[in-house]
Amino acid sequence: MVEEHPTIGGKQTAGVRSPSAPPVPITELHGSALARIPTGFAEVDQTLGGGVVPGSVVLIGGDPGIGKSTLLLQIAARIANQGCKALYVSGEESAEQIRFRAERIGAMSPDLYLTAETLLEAIIDNGERIKPDLLILDSVQTTYAGALESPPGSISQVREVATRLLTLSKERGISTCLIGHVTKEGSFAGPKALEHIVDTVIYFEGERQHAYRILRVTKNRFGSTHEIGIFEMTEAGLQEVGNPSRIFLAERPEGVTGSVVVVTMEGTRPLLVEIQALVAPTHVSLPRRVVTGADHHRVAILLAVLEKRLEMPLSTCDVFVNVAGGVRITEPAADLGIVAAVASSFRNIPLDSRMVCFGEVGLTGEIRGVRHAEKRVREAWQLGFTRCLIPHTNEVRHREGAGKEVIGLGTVDALMAILFP
Ligand code: TYD
Ligand code: MG
Repeated sequence: MVEEHPTIGGKQTAGVRSPSAPPVPITELHGSALARIPTGFAEVDQTLGGGVVPGSVVLIGGDPGIGKSTLLLQIAARIANQGCKALYVSGEESAEQIRFRAERIGAMSPDLYLTAETLLEAIIDNGERIKPDLLILDSVQTTYAGALESPPGSISQVREVATRLLTLSKERGISTCLIGHVTKEGSFAGPKALEHIVDTVIYFEGERQHAYRILRVTKNRFGSTHEIGIFEMTEAGLQEVGNPSRIFLAERPEGVTGSVVVVTMEGTRPLLVEIQALVAPTHVSLPRRVVTGADHHRVAILLAVLEKRLEMPLSTCDVFVNVAGGVRITEPAADLGIVAAVASSFRNIPLDSRMVCFGEVGLTGEIRGVRHAEKRVREAWQLGFTRCLIPHTNEVRHREGAGKEVIGLGTVDALMAILFP
């Protein structure tokens, strides 16, 4: 047990405003368009909604070792190389260690300042003195306020650090990035408790054994929360992945059963991913349903639809569904792909490898329209696919082109007629 003391001064204010400012009619306030600082990474700018907003506080969370320090060091150097000043405060590594890494990955700039510091008051002093455009704190868990008695990383310390840096940010127009480690329990140790204080929350995700990393926004006061950025961890730091679909499809086998490509949307960006299914006669009384990368309830519903509407005796089969490449699909537009992959494996007939599909499947076996059909189809053409199976209610103009075919489907029966003529 550790004794915790309330924050000194008692008051915790998230936004900074003068207490005496009287309310004014909203129409009399002039909102100026937000000037944003581009980070030098198109993927990061897209994720944030166009760059870093001056005076904003961004919390970036992720598992230890995922690449948070690397990404922010690269961003700091790129911003510094554009004539802005960046201050990188590390409580985890020495300045020499960081310099060594920066040299190796080419993140050097005379306007990038480094300090290894964990005392909050000293960090704020440095911020006031150097007046950087961007301040990076690596990490909130290692920083502590001298005024508090609780240890670094405790809830009250982490809150105090975030609140004081937020004040500094707003007063001086410094953009601040706070790095927070996600703990074993899956939540930020403390940082989860900071989500309401900061302006933007980003998670850096990925499997340690895969090279791909996804930057995902979960809160954004200055933009949407639908965008993602995709990176690859290389020998020379993180590199942007311009065309993720190509990578997710790179290892796709062709001419095999149970494999189909769907077009899913990640924010405003269409992404092509492969869905695989394996259907095999079961040897246990309760057939197995193993799903990775998709919602298993959703898969259970689709299997029931196949069983009832198409009389496929799936209750006597084990069914495995996998989304390749470690991607997670959450939208119902992938339903049609799951149905097609399961049917292909069940019948042991491979599907056309130049075909993609998308559409939501309802309980009566009807195929329902989805958003952004046009964008999805265009992405499929761009990647060299020649056939799109889409919901019949979706209007698509991009049908043209030699050998390209868009087929609108109303029911799962119609889907089967197309897949297995
Ligand atoms: P790091 O940024 O230190 O992670 P975090 O701050 O999120 O804990 O990155 C850790 C891993 O990234 C490390 O295990 C090695 C790998 N890495 C590379 O593969 N290439 C590189 O150029 C760098 C700098 C790191
Ligand atoms: Mg780190």
